[in-house]
Amino acid sequence: MTIRFDQLGSAVLRTEYAVRGPVPTRAQQLEREGREIIFCNIGNPQAFEQKPLTYPRQVLALCQYPGLMTEAPGIFPEDVIATARAVLEGTRYGLGAYSDSTGVRFIREAVGAFIQERDGIETNAEAIYLTDGASKGVQGALRLLISGPQDGIMIPLPQYPLYSATVTLYEGQQVGYYLDEGHDWKLSREMLDESLKQATDSGIKVRAICVINPGNPTGAVLDCANISMVIDFAREHDLAILADEVYQENVYLQGDRFLSFAKVMVEKGERDVSLFSFHSCSKGFLGECGLRGGYMEVRNIPPDVLAQLTKLQSVALCANLTGQVATYCMVRPPKPGEPSYPLYAQERDSVLGELRKRAVLLAEGLNRIPGIQCNVVAGAMYAFPRITLPAGRTDLEYCMALLERTGICVVPGSGFGQLPGTAHFRTTILPPTDKIRVVVERLSAFHASYR
Ligand SMILES: Cc1ncc(COP(=O)(O)O)c(C=O)c1O
Repeated sequence: MTIRFDQLGSAVLRTEYAVRGPVPTRAQQLEREGREIIFCNIGNPQAFEQKPLTYPRQVLALCQYPGLMTEAPGIFPEDVIATARAVLEGTRYGLGAYSDSTGVRFIREAVGAFIQERDGIETNAEAIYLTDGASKGVQGALRLLISGPQDGIMIPLPQYPLYSATVTLYEGQQVGYYLDEGHDWKLSREMLDESLKQATDSGIKVRAICVINPGNPTGAVLDCANISMVIDFAREHDLAILADEVYQENVYLQGDRFLSFAKVMVEKGERDVSLFSFHSCSKGFLGECGLRGGYMEVRNIPPDVLAQLTKLQSVALCANLTGQVATYCMVRPPKPGEPSYPLYAQERDSVLGELRKRAVLLAEGLNRIPGIQCNVVAGAMYAFPRITLPAGRTDLEYCMALLERTGICVVPGSGFGQLPGTAHFRTTILPPTDKIRVVVERLSAFHASYR
C-alpha cells in the first residue's frame, strides 16, 4: 500500500512556504503551457541574467577538476591557481570527500578572518559552521532552540517564510512582532514589548528573537541604536538572537551601512546573550543561490550546547563541498594588487550598481501607480508595496489575477505576514531595467482595472 495523505503529520501539513506557493506554482504551469512569465517571486539573481563572477567560478573549476591546472596552461590567472591549490590542500581529500561536520577547518578560519576584518572583533573557528546556504544554519539553530510546543520564536512581520515554515515544522510557536511600515519598516521597542507580552500572557515560553538585516521583504537596514536595542531586549528577557545577515552587501542608500549584530554585541561587552549569525553566497553580488554556500557564526554559547549543535550538523555529515569552496571565495576575495582583482572589482561593482539602480526604478515606478505605496528600498532585493484592494478581495486573489492577466509573478503579502486590514505583495528588484519598466506598466494598467 502506498503512503496516504491522512498519515502525514499535522506539522508537515501546516508548513507553508509562500515564495514557492500557489501563485508561483500556477506561474510554472502557465510557463509550461507557453506563456511568457516574469518571475518576480524569488531572490534568485542568476535566473535574471546576472552572470556569475569570474573569480569564484575559476577557483571552483580548478577545485572540481584539478587536472585543468596543467591541462589548460595559461587560461587561469596565477592567484586563482594558488587559491585552488591552497583550498584543495585545506580540504585534504578534495571536493569528493566529506569534510568535518562543521566544515573544512581552513575555510572556517577564512570565515573567522573575514568577520575579524569586517568588524574588528575576535573570532573562533570552532564557533563557525559551514552550511548548505544560510537556510540550513537557520534550521539548525531553530532545532536547537525549540524543545517543545511551549517554545516561542519571535519573528518579524513581515518575515521571510523560512522562519515561519521552520518554526511550524519543529512544532514551536511563532511569535510575530510587527515592523513599522510608517517608519521605513524599522523595529521599535514598543512592538517587541507588546508581542512578547501577548505571547507570555498566553503561556508561551519565548526562547529567541529573529532579526533580518537588511530586511526581507522590507529592504530596511538597521542602525546601531536599533541593533543595540534588540540586544538589550534579548538580555532583559533571556532570549537568544538569530541575526540573518545574508543581504549585508545589499545596502543601497548613501549614509546607510551594514552593521553586524556580532560587532555591536562585542562592542557593548555583551556576554549573556547567545547569538547565531548567518551569511550566504546566494545574495550580495555573487548571487550563487544554486551553489548552496553559507555559514553560521555563534557567540556566547556554552561548550556543552555547542557540542549539541555540532552533533545536529553531523547528522547530515557535512555541507556540500562546492558550497564550502564558494563560501571561501566569498570571504577571501582577490585583494588589490592580485591578478584577478581588477576584473573581480569591476564585476562586483557592476552588479551592485545595477541593483542600486533597479531598487530606485522599481520603487519610484510603483509609487506612480495610484493605489500602490512603496517605501524606499534601502537594502536586500525586494520591494513590499502596500496595495489598496476592492472590498472583499484578498492579496492572494489579486496576485493570482495579476499573474493570469499580465504574466507577472509576485507573492501575496499574507505569505510574509502583515498588519490585519493591510494588503501587500512582494516583488524582487532583480529583473533587468527594461523588464522592470514592463512590470510597472503592466501593473499600472492591471491595478487600475482590478475589481
Ligand atoms: C532573509 C533570508 N534568509 C535566508 C535565505 C536563504 O538563503 P540561502 O540560499 O543561503 O539558503 C534567504 C533567501 O532568499 C533570505 O531571503
